[in-house]
Amino acid sequence: GSKTFMVISGKKKKSFLGIKSLTVDEITHLLDFAFEFKKNKFKGKNKTPSLKGKRIVNLFLEPSTRTRIAFEVATKSLGADIISIAEKSSSLTKGESLRDTACNIQALGADAIILRHSSPGSATYLSNLIDVPIINAGDGAHEHPSQALLDLFTLREKLSDLNGKKVTILGDILFSRVARSNIWGLLKLGAKVTLAGPSTLVPKLMEEFGVTVTYDLREAISGADAIMLLRIQHERQTQSHFPSLVEYSKMFGLKESGCKPDKHTIILHPGPINRGVEIDSKL
Ligand code: CP
Repeated sequence: GSKTFMVISGKKKKSFLGIKSLTVDEITHLLDFAFEFKKNKFKGKNKTPSLKGKRIVNLFLEPSTRTRIAFEVATKSLGADIISIAEKSSSLTKGESLRDTACNIQALGADAIILRHSSPGSATYLSNLIDVPIINAGDGAHEHPSQALLDLFTLREKLSDLNGKKVTILGDILFSRVARSNIWGLLKLGAKVTLAGPSTLVPKLMEEFGVTVTYDLREAISGADAIMLLRIQHERQTQSHFPSLVEYSKMFGLKESGCKPDKHTIILHPGPINRGVEIDSKL
């Protein structure tokens, strides 16, 4: 429908860049639409050809397993053609700029570009340069909006209403785009958000967003309806933010023994998981 984020069928460009700029109504509409889709239309491998005849380009310039494949499956299920481009096999390795790469993709008739990039703001940058709608599939430590929609969808399925629910985000908040997108989304849907982890990775300043910051694992998980774990993002850290992974795991890893979540607490992890670091495999 016209209210939906039909980035492809709308006459006007409608890029999907982040959760921060969405209204509560837009988020709720997307989640309701996804729920109907899951219930009625996405059973088995049946295709819903609403993107038939469209050409989508998966431009993944940073490693990904889940997001890249999920977008491929979704695009194919909606009947579109998908072309996947990875950095190592593209002319970016020969010095071509992101702008020129995107302009070429536009000239070859793309109807949308799904972009994963290590630079915060890269999706917004491209959306201002070309007419093709951009879907942000993760831009550096800035936003990962499709991951947040998935997490919000899962939490709404399990808890029905997020209003007043305590959701703790635990781990490497500073470098996490998943944390940022989820913070915006959870707050907009009325959840009480607690951020926890080492003080070097969870700046107290983040309380300005309207969240609680704690460095005490017990306080973080006590009474939590959901705990969202985050991986330590070595690839974005420029210095050591804690003495060692063993020490991180001892202080902030979720385990079956000792300081552990309540039985009813939902545990989410966007992946990839560092098993035995942020969470015990058994748990
Ligand atoms: N959750 C997530 O973004 O995983 P990938 O990096 O494998 O896509």
